[in-house]
Amino acid sequence: MINGVADVTPAVLAAMANTPDARLREITKSFISHIHAFAREVELTEEEYEVGINFLNRIGKATSEHHNEGVLIADVIGLSTLVCLLNNGNAGATETTAALLGPFWRINAPSIRNGGSIVRSSTPGAALFVKGRVKDINGNPIANVDVDVWQASPKGLYENQDQDQADMNLRGKLVTNAEGIFEFRSVMPDGYPVPTDGPAGDLLRAQRRHPYRPAHIHFLLFKPKFKTLITQVFVNDDPYLETDAVFGVTAALIGTYRKHDSGEPPAADITAPWHTLEYDFTMEPGFAKLPTPPIK
Ligand code: BEZ
Ligand code: FE
Repeated sequence: MINGVADVTPAVLAAMANTPDARLREITKSFISHIHAFAREVELTEEEYEVGINFLNRIGKATSEHHNEGVLIADVIGLSTLVCLLNNGNAGATETTAALLGPFWRINAPSIRNGGSIVRSSTPGAALFVKGRVKDINGNPIANVDVDVWQASPKGLYENQDQDQADMNLRGKLVTNAEGIFEFRSVMPDGYPVPTDGPAGDLLRAQRRHPYRPAHIHFLLFKPKFKTLITQVFVNDDPYLETDAVFGVTAALIGTYRKHDSGEPPAADITAPWHTLEYDFTMEPGFAKLPTPPIK
């Protein structure tokens, strides 16, 4: 029986104490302890509690097969980056630093040949040629790594947000060759605002935060017996590197996107200027697994 405010937390913890799954027991015990402590610390009013419940319900309502507001909220409060860095690579010591998956990964991007293009519909913007090298922790190349790439357009929109882009534009899967190299052609990504038409946007506005992410390309590297690597490589001169709305930038992930004003163009249809990015990825031995796709 509850006789006063001091009894509530111990009663709830006691009621959950026989949860057979040890990990679930540990997580729920910690979660309830913290969320009760939070309510006590801020002396949460009933009106504020209603706002909070309504906020959670709105996150659910805003989520569909094509939009994941839950992931977006976790991203803008830094929880995705925290969990990502807690679980991946001791600050880049062995494997390439990971970065959050984000809400826009789609699992069935079409395959392209090594050296092919991920531009599937007319996408005005500066041409970009990307070359990645995938190595193990001893510096040896890893062949046959599945490399899934996705990026926003030069207008700062993913294809699923933009009627003007073909399905799966600027997305593709390719495979590393015997030297661990993968190459593809694209266009320079631009920075973009995260979607602000739902609860995540309300939160950002209430906190007087801008919604922008610095321009980047996403990479998901998968090969059995290696720990799957999910990361992003950022454009080095982007104005939002220091203030990414979702806290995804670490120094090691700032790539050198080089602008070429002269010289031999990398393809017959290219005239200067064009851009190149070269980046080395290191995968460590481990378990290969794919995340749950946030959208279809
Ligand atoms: C992204 O990088 O695609 C992303 C990450 C977090 C929120 C929105 C977009
Ligand atoms: Fe992105």
